[in-house]
Amino acid sequence: MKVLACDGIHEDGLSLFRAAGWEVVVSDPIKDAAKLAKALAGVDAVLVRSATQVTAEAIADAPRLRVIGRAGAGVDTIDVDAATARGIAVMNAPDGNTLAAAEHALALLFALARHVPRADAGMKAGEWPKAGLTGFELEGKRLGIIGLGRIGSTVARKAHGIGMEVAAHDPFLPPAAAGKGSVPLKPLEELLAWADIVTLHIPRTKDTTHLLGEARLRAMKRGAYLVNAARGGLVDEAALLKLLDEGHLAGAALDTFATEPLPADSPLRAHPKLILTPHLGASTGEAQQAVSTILARQILDFVQTGAVAGC
Ligand code: MLT
Repeated sequence: MKVLACDGIHEDGLSLFRAAGWEVVVSDPIKDAAKLAKALAGVDAVLVRSATQVTAEAIADAPRLRVIGRAGAGVDTIDVDAATARGIAVMNAPDGNTLAAAEHALALLFALARHVPRADAGMKAGEWPKAGLTGFELEGKRLGIIGLGRIGSTVARKAHGIGMEVAAHDPFLPPAAAGKGSVPLKPLEELLAWADIVTLHIPRTKDTTHLLGEARLRAMKRGAYLVNAARGGLVDEAALLKLLDEGHLAGAALDTFATEPLPADSPLRAHPKLILTPHLGASTGEAQQAVSTILARQILDFVQTGAVAGC
């Protein structure tokens, strides 16, 4: 049996495959569908993170391929319908990087509140950039969470710990859940108007693409902040730039982008009110170790017993 591991899959999962007698081929991200198709032609399983997109074209002629594993929370980089049509199982490891993603959203929140990147850049440039970098305290501020799943509720728990007032919008939670837990649920427009800071924790689907377009960004409080460490495309980037320029929004921190890697000439890169990180939400040693071993166990189990886990 042979597994192709793209995008820097943690060694601990790969060693489980080796221990089970599999051949492991490690590869950098394969961005070109034709090259990926060639690489997939002779393997039984493929593992990916965010960079390698497993398209219909890439799996069209992969006679041995039985399973596609996503070492992460979503499966949005995989054409699940095409895989299903070909009888190829798709698995992910949604529990492995919850803490990492939640902590990264909070890191961005703190960075926005205290201008950490600008302070650091000024210091490295030989300045003492104290003036102009007065921040704000998070305790007592209102955090609006869009998506109260694993990651959103972990953010809520941690935000409560630092004294923030927290509310959420989640259309998948039954209305009866509103007010029952420690996080009150609000309709989206109400949440946007209520929050000092809005953070997104939802997958990207056709329904959530540009969920925050110009009208909804404008529905946010004047002077509010936005954090997106979930998926690129949830926020209309052009509208975000417009509202930052107009001064309606005070700042935003983005870890995910409509196009990844973010093009070198993207106007997002030059905006002083934006903090940007390169899709680092899941990038902790602990999370990568966890997703890689969870996925390896699921795939080995699937091949031995036919049991499908994840997703
Ligand atoms: C995830 O889906 O959990 C992450 O985006 C995957 C990653 O970046 O490794």
